Amino acid sequence: MAFPSQPEAATAARTPKVPTLHQFFAPGGLLSQAHPQYEFRRGQLQMAEAVEKALTERRHLIVEAGTGTGKTLAYLLPVIRSGKRVIISTGTKNLQEQLFFKDIPFLEQLLFSQNPGKLRVCYMKGRNNYLCRQKLYDLTDQPVLSGLDEIEHYRQISAWEPVTETGDRAELTELPENNQLWHKLDARTDRCTGQKCAQWDRCFITEMHRRAMESDIVIVNHHLFFADLALRQSGAPDAGILPEFSAVIFDEAHELEDVASSYFGVTVSNLRFEELARDIESTLKQKQASSPGLLQALGRLRERARFFFGLLPQGEGRFAFTGRDKFLEKHGDDYAAVMQALARIFSELEVLPKKPDEVFGFARRTQELKTQLAFIMESEDKNTVFWIDWRGEARKTRTGQAHIILQATPIDVSEILKQTLFENVETAVLTSATLAVAGAADQGSFEYIRRRVGMDHARELVLPSHFDYARQAILYVPPDLPDPRSASFARGAAEKIRRLLEITRGRAFCLFTSYAQMHDIHDRLLGELPFPMFLQGSAPKNALLEEFRLTANAVLFATASFWQGVDVQGEQLSCVIIDRLPFAVPNDPVVAARIRAIQEAEATHFLNTRCRRRSSP
Ligand SMILES: Nc1ncnc2c1ncn2[C@@H]1O[C@H](COP(=O)(O)OP(=O)(O)OP(=O)(O)O)[C@@H](O)[C@H]1O
Ligand code: SF4
Ligand SMILES: [Mg+2]
Repeated sequence: MAFPSQPEAATAARTPKVPTLHQFFAPGGLLSQAHPQYEFRRGQLQMAEAVEKALTERRHLIVEAGTGTGKTLAYLLPVIRSGKRVIISTGTKNLQEQLFFKDIPFLEQLLFSQNPGKLRVCYMKGRNNYLCRQKLYDLTDQPVLSGLDEIEHYRQISAWEPVTETGDRAELTELPENNQLWHKLDARTDRCTGQKCAQWDRCFITEMHRRAMESDIVIVNHHLFFADLALRQSGAPDAGILPEFSAVIFDEAHELEDVASSYFGVTVSNLRFEELARDIESTLKQKQASSPGLLQALGRLRERARFFFGLLPQGEGRFAFTGRDKFLEKHGDDYAAVMQALARIFSELEVLPKKPDEVFGFARRTQELKTQLAFIMESEDKNTVFWIDWRGEARKTRTGQAHIILQATPIDVSEILKQTLFENVETAVLTSATLAVAGAADQGSFEYIRRRVGMDHARELVLPSHFDYARQAILYVPPDLPDPRSASFARGAAEKIRRLLEITRGRAFCLFTSYAQMHDIHDRLLGELPFPMFLQGSAPKNALLEEFRLTANAVLFATASFWQGVDVQGEQLSCVIIDRLPFAVPNDPVVAARIRAIQEAEATHFLNTRCRRRSSP
């Protein structure tokens, strides 16, 4: 697969007056006239120069610059000056929105106020963020809604559908994030009939692609980027949704390895079986195209899958699926029964006398599930770690079962990324506040990240932080809290947080490593704090963030997606509290497999070099 170069026409040619980096960032320059808090940050200008050079010379670049350096502008300006089509990939959807709704309009106003519309930028998110018009219309014909909340949410979505231009649910600021109705209406591929759909021309996904084709800068997130890369790699027809591009900038690039691994891996859960059966049943019932044989096969699939997942080793959270061969020796018949049940669904779909368009998608999903389950249960690939994520009580499925997820994750994605990405794209820039590993002379080194992601050749730059942390910040680690794994932790932590928030008068983010902990501590403090409290999940993230920015003394309770890159200026955010350091734990199955692989590789390398030295004359 290749990413053919884009003609370097676009923005720069159409707008020859984009200032040079110096004219923009230097004291007295354009930025200083427009940014109310402007400071000259040497690191920011150096980073911008390095990005510009990488784009011009078609080289890769890794750059680390401390948090708050202003990395966003440092890559956006050279990107605009380059005139190439560039993909910018961020760590989260929040950051995409921050770029699209804040940084880009700021630059547009500054650079192109005389030529509005010259800067062609769009964002793309995963399909489940967009409304499927067809699903909404189907639901309107046969409303099956449960509860008053769902009726109210349905009313909001139906009123919004004719007026929204993007169909992006982030616009529905009143809609809670974990909303069941949205799950039934989003534009995932599961029931999409593509060009055969009556809404295809006005579909929000079609529209998103159209906008991307016409844009010079396309803002995506790592999940979308690697989902796209993995899809292209699989060679599926029409694979890939990103337009052709010349360069890609990965912001928050320390996450690349983990995100890429999850998309080059395989995931099968009991919920996926339930959803497949439900989608086939409800769609074919609605289209009056089902058959008694199919209904019977669906019942059998549900029963077999539930039984099979019930036999899997039980645990809490993520753990390695060791002894798959022993498991198969003991439960081989039950595994075979699930595979047969899937095969039977496939053949029942094939012989349906009347085949609505959705049937082809269902057949594809059935086959995919079968191939993927077979890989997880039978593959002996040495570069893959097999593991189970058992969500137990914390997250029951609609059938009351625990949510059980089987995973196969590549241990080392460097070769895949090297071949599919870095050898095909002219310029890739990796940036973040944390990429280098301190070496002996305290000189940051990118060797570790380069090796892990397969980036053999890249220019490198480490820029010191612009801030004097020792003078400008306080770090407090409570010395007397119970072990975070103990039951008494939440009570102690809530009390400590309450006292800290009294000192800072709110104006804080309280960030947690799990939803359960976030809810627990939030509920303990509800009514105890004299400050406005916001909770992740109660509204879309960008809406929450905007409310936080606008509300005096606010406190936000949130999880991973607010950990990084979020920009709240001034004293509105004066304190960040985290429940525990989010380091990958060494007994996590994927981390453990990686540590083992690195140790083995080092041992082999050590043995080889020693043997060579000893045997050389
Ligand atoms: N030269 C500058 N002077 C003052 N403020 C600036 C300057 N450049 C950028 N900023 C502001 O600094 C804030 C942080 O910028 P940005 O989000 O790009 O930081 P970052 O380097 O990406 O940090 P992080 O690593 O936390 O993501 C933003 O509000 C931005 O508008
Ligand atoms: S094309 Fe697919 S996603 Fe779009 S409206 Fe039709 S079914 Fe929904
Ligand atoms: Mg940033």
